[in-house]
Amino acid sequence: MELKPVDLFYEDIGQGIPVLLVHGYPLDHTIWAPVVEGLKDTARFILPDMRGYGKSPDTNEVHSMRLLAEDLRALIDKLGLEKVILVGHSMGGYVALSFAHAYPNYLSGLGLVATQADADSPEKRQSRLVTAREAKRRGVGYVTGGMPAKLTQNEAIQKQLNELMLNNRTGSLINSLKGMAERPDANPTLAAIKVPAVVIAGTQDQIIPLQLARTLAQMLSKGWLVEVADAGHMPMLENPTAVIDAVKQLICHVGECK
Ligand code: MLT
Repeated sequence: MELKPVDLFYEDIGQGIPVLLVHGYPLDHTIWAPVVEGLKDTARFILPDMRGYGKSPDTNEVHSMRLLAEDLRALIDKLGLEKVILVGHSMGGYVALSFAHAYPNYLSGLGLVATQADADSPEKRQSRLVTAREAKRRGVGYVTGGMPAKLTQNEAIQKQLNELMLNNRTGSLINSLKGMAERPDANPTLAAIKVPAVVIAGTQDQIIPLQLARTLAQMLSKGWLVEVADAGHMPMLENPTAVIDAVKQLICHVGECK
């Protein structure tokens, strides 16, 4: 099937080695603000809103991870960049792994935040598809209502995330739920990833068990794990200092220490 990219909205902040920060579901680029604030004198940060989120357009298609990776490839080409450090959070991490498989030569480094290489279990897949079906009738609040409490225990961040999620369009949530449900197991592709790769995981993540992050880091030939204390699924908001340090270390491993 033809993969037709859309023109993503993005912010472009700072100068130096390009770092593409990819948000997860169902959020937008603003989740990275504290990390960019801490690192903007170190590198160039490109922050897209993924297809269907924030200010980026959607089409009436399932958000397969491969299609979302194609959107990123089109953005990188539009910016005239040869290589990027790609950092993806959760669904953004699923996309980053799909991108690493499709376009290994575009990568100088990889950051995988609160994410996994595993596909959905049959039960998880089924529950996503039921949610997608019900969402048509019941709307955005039905899909996102219970999410903030699972993402973090920090009430101020829960409130921030709730507001962000309620701005979404139902159709985009449905497209992402279907895309995540059908995503393939990325484990067989990990051995081919030869660039420095940091796996960042909140020790209290209720969505992605810590053990999966540990295994992921072990399977990457130049991978290492950063466990973030006092964080759940949103370490970049819950403990930005730890994520800033980890991304700085990644940039340094790629060869640009400041
Ligand atoms: C995300 O944070 O992107 C999603 O919660 C990931 C998922 O549902 O698998």
